[in-house]
Amino acid sequence: MTPIGTPTTARPTRTTEPAPGGFNAERIREDFPVLKLKVNGKPLVYLDNAATAQKPRVVLDALRKFYETECANVHRGLHWMSEEATRDYEESREKVRQFLGAADVKEVIFVRGTTEAINLVAHSFGRPRVRAGDEILITAMEHHSNIVPWQILCEQSGAQLRVAPINDDGELLLDEFEKLLSPRTRLVAVSHVSNALGTVNPVAQIIEMAHRRKVPVLVDGAQAAPHLPVNVRELDCDFYAFSGHKLFGPTGIGVLYGKAQWLEEMPPYQAGGDMIRSVTFEKTTYNSLPYKFEAGTPHIAGVIGLGAAVDYLSRVGLARAAAYERELLEYATERLRRIPDARIIGTAREKAGVLSFVLEGIHPHDVGTILDQEGIAVRAGHHCAMPVMDRFQVPATARASFAFYNTPQEVDALIAGIEKVKEIFS
Ligand code: ALA
Repeated sequence: MTPIGTPTTARPTRTTEPAPGGFNAERIREDFPVLKLKVNGKPLVYLDNAATAQKPRVVLDALRKFYETECANVHRGLHWMSEEATRDYEESREKVRQFLGAADVKEVIFVRGTTEAINLVAHSFGRPRVRAGDEILITAMEHHSNIVPWQILCEQSGAQLRVAPINDDGELLLDEFEKLLSPRTRLVAVSHVSNALGTVNPVAQIIEMAHRRKVPVLVDGAQAAPHLPVNVRELDCDFYAFSGHKLFGPTGIGVLYGKAQWLEEMPPYQAGGDMIRSVTFEKTTYNSLPYKFEAGTPHIAGVIGLGAAVDYLSRVGLARAAAYERELLEYATERLRRIPDARIIGTAREKAGVLSFVLEGIHPHDVGTILDQEGIAVRAGHHCAMPVMDRFQVPATARASFAFYNTPQEVDALIAGIEKVKEIFS
């Protein structure tokens, strides 16, 4: 038997033509060494990209280069290696600025990931401003990371968490959302793309509605940044958060974009290291942006790896990749719809790369386990979005989530795997 994780050159046979538009996923796959793995003797079919995406060789090379040739701390040393590391670290910030269309690199804060970015805003933006009786408005499709920081803020301040409802397709009810914007709303926090349902929220419209009432908006872009072109200035969002590891970059690194006007006003989130300008026992002054929010030695390798991922994405072309992923999702949706007793959870008109489903009478964990035996990686569970599961009255779902390196024949493998699950349970 082939041990799990054995590299193989075996490729699945194409059963379906590539998407129109000439996007060459087969060529892209060559950039991702892990996609050559066999799992349980079968070619790996990696459909868990919403949990974390695989890394192209250029990202792995950038990490190796940092550790092999320039492993030094940033902003601290006068020696050559520290200068090299600092240059690459700051170049990554500029790459991210361009990627997001931000006005200035001082608006790009490196954090551990989306969760830390949202916690930073809840702490540094929320705590000084939010008082008893105020309101924070979120939606019913948020990830726990965009619920719990606001709950904690509300508990500490006496504010109220308001939740805008969604319909049976998993779309935000915009009228209801607008009604919930009140003179007491201090912040709107909304996902750009739902991790559990795949819904793409009309964030531009949401931001416009909130801004008309002078309410700032944080966008959780964890599932959007890897799959849709984002321009924070066009969106005019106040904060935008995403994670490097879902964007084909390293784990443990992410970005908080914030408008400079807010970031200047906000107190530091954590203290120590780079966020300091001067310290005496009587008084400490803080560094300027973005360093005010980057306490301690940062994840230097992670930042440099993220820069390589952003470069890679711009070479692939996010708009083309998004169009390809949309076609892949449509193909998978159409095929899944034809399976009796399969129910898709999340049928919004605007969706990105996520196909959550349940099979009548079969627990999603069983679906995930049997698919794994076929070499197919999906996530099964509540996807850190328990309120979404409650809304759809399911304990969990199985979720296939796509990236631009996935192929129609991998969708075929998924469907064949699902048929096998049904056969086993029939
Ligand atoms: N938030 C990630 C997911 O949706 C981990 O799977």
